[in-house]
Amino acid sequence: MRQQLEEIRKNAEAALKATNSLEELDAARVKYLGKKGELTAVLKQMGGLSAEERPIIGQVANDVREYIQNELDERISELKAAQQEAKLLTETIDVTLPGEPCEVGNRHPLSIVLDEVKEIFQGMGFDIISGPEVELDYYNFEALNIPKDHPARDTQDTFYITDNILLRTQTSPCQIRAMEERKPPLRVISPGRVYRSDAVDATHSPLFHQIEGLVVDEGITMSDLKGTLDTLAKKLYGPETKTRFRPHHFPFTEPSCEVDVSCFKCGGVGCSMCKGEGWVEILGAGMVHPKVLKNGGIDPEKYSGFAFGLGLERLVMFRFGLDDMRMLYENDVRFLEQF
Ligand code: DAH
Repeated sequence: MRQQLEEIRKNAEAALKATNSLEELDAARVKYLGKKGELTAVLKQMGGLSAEERPIIGQVANDVREYIQNELDERISELKAAQQEAKLLTETIDVTLPGEPCEVGNRHPLSIVLDEVKEIFQGMGFDIISGPEVELDYYNFEALNIPKDHPARDTQDTFYITDNILLRTQTSPCQIRAMEERKPPLRVISPGRVYRSDAVDATHSPLFHQIEGLVVDEGITMSDLKGTLDTLAKKLYGPETKTRFRPHHFPFTEPSCEVDVSCFKCGGVGCSMCKGEGWVEILGAGMVHPKVLKNGGIDPEKYSGFAFGLGLERLVMFRFGLDDMRMLYENDVRFLEQF
């Protein structure tokens, strides 16, 4: 029996060495160690042994099983390693191949025009600041001389967080914040998102962008306002551009005006862009109301200032000849890749 066992060990060793795949290896395992395998068959005959022989042969049988099992395990790791090696060889990367071109995006038309406006004002010595979009009623209305019952609130309905906290309807609250935080001389623009509860159509959106401007110093007059905004118009739309200042009313400026530029498409003759007028309105402006200066902690006896508010979407639409504002928000690549 000892010889039989020794035989099995030798045969198994040779058979395992000869295996070339995990499947063959499994077949060999069944053949030698399985329930109906050769080793089990020999062990079944142990009943016929004497009491002295049985433990000795039992020990030999166990050694053989352990030996075969170890050989098996070793061969499994060898085969697995070989498989891995082969896989790596087929998957080598040719680092000299050209890479997949990755698509580069464009700047959004709103960003293109905003960057231009920023650059124009930075060239005139303005700082760029920003304010919160979730704003206090005080900054958005009250401090800008728009008390609770003022009709101007009707045209600027918005989304309220609480009675006193809202999504700002304009960038004008940045005027008050700037005056609180800085001392004159003050020259800032503050671009950003504003909100109104308007239904979406070709010229309205509940979210849009404004650029606020504020200058406060000793001796600031309406001519400073005109010079600054005339420079803006010429830089944006070309040196031939004319500006027109029309009287208007805003609660936070006195006097107030709206500013038109000569139509940059037809040069002022009248076309579809300016609806035959020859002029297009681009912003509201005025001399900062003394009450507003006071609310910002600035002495209106000593200082004066001007302010203005530009609608960025309007500028962009004029600039690129767009007739529907919704295109600016829909993220349609066919539209966006044209800029
Ligand atoms: N905040 C005004 C609006 O949303 C625009 C505006 C007008 C801003 C006149 C100003 C200004 O600073 O002086 O309609």
